Amino acid sequence: MFGKINSFVKDIVLASRIAYLFYPFRKFLLFLSNLAALTAWIQKNKKNVEQKDFFVWKRNYTKRINGFDFVVNKFQLENAPVTYLEFGVASGVSFEWWLNHVKNADAVFFGFDTFEGLPEDWGLFFKKGAMAHDMKEIADKRHTFFKGIFQDTLVKAINDNKALLEKQRRKIIHLDADLFSSTLFVLSQLYPYLKQGDVLIFDEFNVPNHEFYAVKLFRECFYVKLKPISALNNFYQTIFVVE
Ligand SMILES: C[S@@+](CC[C@H](N)C(=O)[O-])C[C@H]1O[C@@H](n2cnc3c(N)ncnc32)[C@H](O)[C@@H]1O
Repeated sequence: MFGKINSFVKDIVLASRIAYLFYPFRKFLLFLSNLAALTAWIQKNKKNVEQKDFFVWKRNYTKRINGFDFVVNKFQLENAPVTYLEFGVASGVSFEWWLNHVKNADAVFFGFDTFEGLPEDWGLFFKKGAMAHDMKEIADKRHTFFKGIFQDTLVKAINDNKALLEKQRRKIIHLDADLFSSTLFVLSQLYPYLKQGDVLIFDEFNVPNHEFYAVKLFRECFYVKLKPISALNNFYQTIFVVE
């Protein structure tokens, strides 16, 4: 009986179109929902994070390098044959940092970007096309850049490098594309290749409707267990290891 009433009320709500009233506020309502989930997540996880600064009054973006250093030291990556994949290369600052700090000759570095800026608006302040940079010339032969939107380049890159991705070597996956869509797309494509011990670096993790939301859906839909190991600038930069 209750089930029938439930369906009837839902159908009436749909037919009456009363929910249209919420339509202009849908992003804000999603923001509130994700902010609540982020707050709860931080409270639950903060005590277990090895490297953290929560709470700081002022963010210092350059501190993200401390997170990279932490990963290199914790997993002794300086001479490890890692596979490093960066999504969102832009001017190449973080990409070059990793090239310079992992010295193993067999390490492989892949960088993905449109090199024409964001494919869609990111929040109110960064419009489509923001952050456009020419593809940087880098002499180090261990690297390859894939130009285009991830949605066009990643599937082919994965198919062409299946053996590498399936190898028993650690992957460092650096997600710095800012956008929900880009982040969730990449995570879902790389899911079959994720192995215990792989590292996921997020550069804007605590943005409720973007990277946080992408990670939330990824964990919930793919049942992936990720352990946060580093959180800097109040979880803006958060690093996970695959369990
Ligand atoms: C914040 S910047 C990357 C900064 C860089 N990692 C650094 O630290 O110097 C974000 C980049 O993500 C790229 N991006 C976002 N979504 C993308 C997508 N779907 N496909 C390709 N590139 C994307 C943008 O073009 C932009 O250059």
